[in-house]
Amino acid sequence: MKRFKRAADIKVAVVGYGGAFNMGRLHLNEMKRAGMTPAAVAELDPKRLEAAKQDFPGIATFRSTGELLTKSDAHLITIITPHNTHAKLALQCLRAGRNVVCEKPMAITTAECDAMIAEARRRKVLVSTYHNRHWDGHIVEALKRIKNEREPLGELVRVECRMGGWSKPGDWWRSSKSISGGILYDWGVHLLEYALQVIADDMVEISGYAHSGFWGAQTRWGARDGIEDEATAVVRFKRGCMLTLRISNIESNPKPGVVEFTGTRGTYVMNFPDFEMITHAKGGETVKTVGRNPEGEWWRFYQNIADHLTQGAELTITGEWARRPIHIIDMAFKSAKAGRALPVRHR
Ligand SMILES: NC(=O)c1ccc[n+]([C@@H]2O[C@H](COP(=O)([O-])OP(=O)(O)OC[C@H]3O[C@@H](n4cnc5c(N)ncnc54)[C@H](O)[C@@H]3O)[C@@H](O)[C@H]2O)c1
Repeated sequence: MKRFKRAADIKVAVVGYGGAFNMGRLHLNEMKRAGMTPAAVAELDPKRLEAAKQDFPGIATFRSTGELLTKSDAHLITIITPHNTHAKLALQCLRAGRNVVCEKPMAITTAECDAMIAEARRRKVLVSTYHNRHWDGHIVEALKRIKNEREPLGELVRVECRMGGWSKPGDWWRSSKSISGGILYDWGVHLLEYALQVIADDMVEISGYAHSGFWGAQTRWGARDGIEDEATAVVRFKRGCMLTLRISNIESNPKPGVVEFTGTRGTYVMNFPDFEMITHAKGGETVKTVGRNPEGEWWRFYQNIADHLTQGAELTITGEWARRPIHIIDMAFKSAKAGRALPVRHR
């Protein structure tokens, strides 16, 4: 892999400068903060290219990834487009010998992730995924409190990830199954990435459950291409721990807590912005600890990328790491279709 002398020598570009959350601006600013040099933006929508020019005066702008690759020598390209385009665009950039960061989810299928990892290896470049939430204050605090030598929760038995409520999906591409991949891919990959930091074990089997058709018929994507009303993934780990992920738009009784870790000696409820830990003292009495989570440190993502490309620092979010949540969701939807649990291929 080519090593850069200084972070400033790394020219960076983004593909996709969408308006929903202004993610293109966020990425270029965070890359800049890590010392790298914003060089180019590729975007299909001319209005959004105008916005990029306003935000970064003098930046080169292109109407397609092909044009970006021909006319710009950007060394690192971040893909910030709808989910079904990630693998294709990432492979296009990797084949041109560029380092690639893909927004989450890395891709929709395990096979796409494998192709991206293999291409990066072949070209001796990096492929990573923008798992900024790896550095969210709530998971940093959770890891500090439950993953230490005192093991306050005892043996970890189950991890439950959940999000949702009773509401019609929004009028955007995230509500299309073919574009987004399904209801589990948006927030689901973040929640799984939190959980997998705590469960240090191999996966052995994945089951999935899905219900479709209630809201789908009422959105512009129609019943045939609407996302599921609700889906659940259940992962069995080698030592017996169970991980569940449920994202729902038909949840009439939402429970508090986004991720709940339950062990033989206690439970940790990870919430935004608070946490609650319930354990048991020697005498059996219940001890409840509550507190607020610290601020997130998303900037650490691109700092790690810059350190990796300049000093060879260990990459935190590798392609293999980013593939794990995708493998779970991919297999869960396959299992839901097959009506049975499926053995996992990647641990
Ligand atoms: N990590 C996070 O915290 C976070 C937050 C929000 C969004 N995201 C992710 O960012 C990605 C984009 O989401 P968004 O909310 O910014 O969507 P968006 O709809 O606002 O923006 C997507 C942009 O991509 C452009 N685009 C589509 N295909 C393109 C192509 N082939 N070449 C160039 N441009 C193309 C569109 O014109 C659009 O402007 C998704 O993967 C989403 O999950 C991550």
